[in-house]
Amino acid sequence: MISATDIHKSYSIPGSSAPTEVLRGASIVCEKGEFVAIVGPSGAGKSTLLHIMASVDIADSGTVVLQTPNGPIKYSDLSSNALAKFRNSTIGMVFQYHHLLPEFTAVENVMMPALIAGVSKSDAKIKAMKLLERIGLSNRADHATQELSGGEQQRVAIARAVINKPLLLFADEPTGNLDTENANIILTLISELQREYNLTCVIATHSADLVGSAHRVVTMIDGQCR
Ligand SMILES: Nc1ncnc2c1ncn2[C@@H]1O[C@H](COP(=O)(O)OP(=O)(O)OP(=O)(O)O)[C@@H](O)[C@H]1O
Ligand SMILES: [Mg+2]
Repeated sequence: MISATDIHKSYSIPGSSAPTEVLRGASIVCEKGEFVAIVGPSGAGKSTLLHIMASVDIADSGTVVLQTPNGPIKYSDLSSNALAKFRNSTIGMVFQYHHLLPEFTAVENVMMPALIAGVSKSDAKIKAMKLLERIGLSNRADHATQELSGGEQQRVAIARAVINKPLLLFADEPTGNLDTENANIILTLISELQREYNLTCVIATHSADLVGSAHRVVTMIDGQCR
């Protein structure tokens, strides 16, 4: 379904002589509908790999190929505009720090990817409200995102990630900043959506509960998947 093969990525840090090699030939394959947890020590390269698989960052070398109903898509074959369009329609991404737009309300944040995809404002709002209801936040739809708790913000971020019915959902430590109760709500929500939408779900996490819900666990060490 999605395969990342022999991914290399280095970062140059201003003032330091040699670039730091973060990914050293990382490879991973995830099947359609599979829920994969990526674990490993801090600094192993989990977020970097996730960002490259989600096409929000670009590898120095290696290939990422996603099988879609219209055939395989190799990220490096797409222009940056085409990649942005592809990402909007195909990939949902939940970041560790939700990345909601603070100047917009909860419902506006959820609507955003649908509007970008060309859905009319009224239809986008209907879809977004359905999702907010689904995640138990319809009564918070018109609240500014700063007025929501951390757990509520993370639920909104998940709704935003799935509004375009993506094939893939990536989440980077989605429960990292939450208490146990909210972490459980997020875990349940992700598991339910994963099954309902038959999403391929790849999650970087330090949470034993999330790992326990995954179909498969991949361990990253020193920029490689084991
Ligand atoms: N933009 C960047 N510029 C320079 N170095 C970076 C950048 N992004 C990541 N790194 C470095 O790459 C390494 C891997 O980072 P990454 O965030 O992928 O690790 P991680 O496995 O997600 O860790 P954690 O569990 O702490 O989230 C780290 O040493 C980090 O400092
Ligand atoms: Mg990380």
